[in-house]
Amino acid sequence: MTGASRGIGKATALVFAREGAAVVVNYSKSRELARQVVDEIRKAGRQAIAIQADVARKAEVVAMVETTMREFGKIDVLVNNAGILSPGNILTLREESLDEMIAVNVKGVIHCAQAVAPHMIERRYGKIVNVASLAALGTAMADTTPYAATKAAVISLTKRLALELGVYGINVNAICPGFIRTDMLMSSGTPEEVEVRLASLAKKAVLGRVGEGEDIAYSALFLASDEAGFVTAQALTVDGGRMDFLSHSG
Ligand SMILES: NC(=O)c1ccc[n+]([C@@H]2O[C@H](COP(=O)([O-])OP(=O)(O)OC[C@H]3O[C@@H](n4cnc5c(N)ncnc54)[C@H](OP(=O)(O)O)[C@@H]3O)[C@@H](O)[C@H]2O)c1
Repeated sequence: MTGASRGIGKATALVFAREGAAVVVNYSKSRELARQVVDEIRKAGRQAIAIQADVARKAEVVAMVETTMREFGKIDVLVNNAGILSPGNILTLREESLDEMIAVNVKGVIHCAQAVAPHMIERRYGKIVNVASLAALGTAMADTTPYAATKAAVISLTKRLALELGVYGINVNAICPGFIRTDMLMSSGTPEEVEVRLASLAKKAVLGRVGEGEDIAYSALFLASDEAGFVTAQALTVDGGRMDFLSHSG
């Protein structure tokens, strides 16, 4: 599980552990938060280890997968969740932010898939779930053009990996979350500004609320399950029915 120290990744790690999975809690910077996630899982009687690795760096990903194989002996599921968002449009975005988003959001998915696929191929079994974004599907999410492009690449990669790996019994799917209550959504602005933003986003969903990490976690759980064995190359939108995206036309 990449990026499992906080937000959607943390919720997904906890849900997977509850269902009996031994979980690698990957993080980049938040060592203490990752340790807390591992503690929570272990207290519930399940297995977990925290592994620091910047998914943008191939060598670190390779080392993470080696450690995982040493500790757990196999990898059934890869959830490519780690991601970053630098707000900006085509006129305002700085090149460093663009490079960083491409490195984490796109290269990170490729590095992890490349490192994990040989182990899955050997067992003729595997589930890969990539966390893309609603931003990739339309234009209603303002000021996220370069981020949206990286997430569109994740959807494209999902279909390509499904095509390349399906013959080995590996399913590859993506989730496109709408607005989910995490640091990514809540870290900019004062608490009052955040509340106003959340209220306005909630009104745009048919279900009248923003999402929680667990909303994405359970979708990932389904896509990683054997019950979804005939589902591959798909992008599942989980957004509470955003009215401005229902037509996907923005
Ligand atoms: N929240 C939303 O509304 C929303 C909507 C659509 C899509 N998404 C996508 O969902 C995924 C999770 O987002 P979130 O909202 O949960 O974000 P978040 O709360 O900001 O958490 C991001 C997680 O990714 C990790 N991470 C960041 N860069 C990394 C790197 N280079 N290597 C390894 N781990 C890294 C972070 O680790 P550290 O704690 O160590 O930094 C953290 O665990 C992202 O791919 C995001 O684009 C989110």
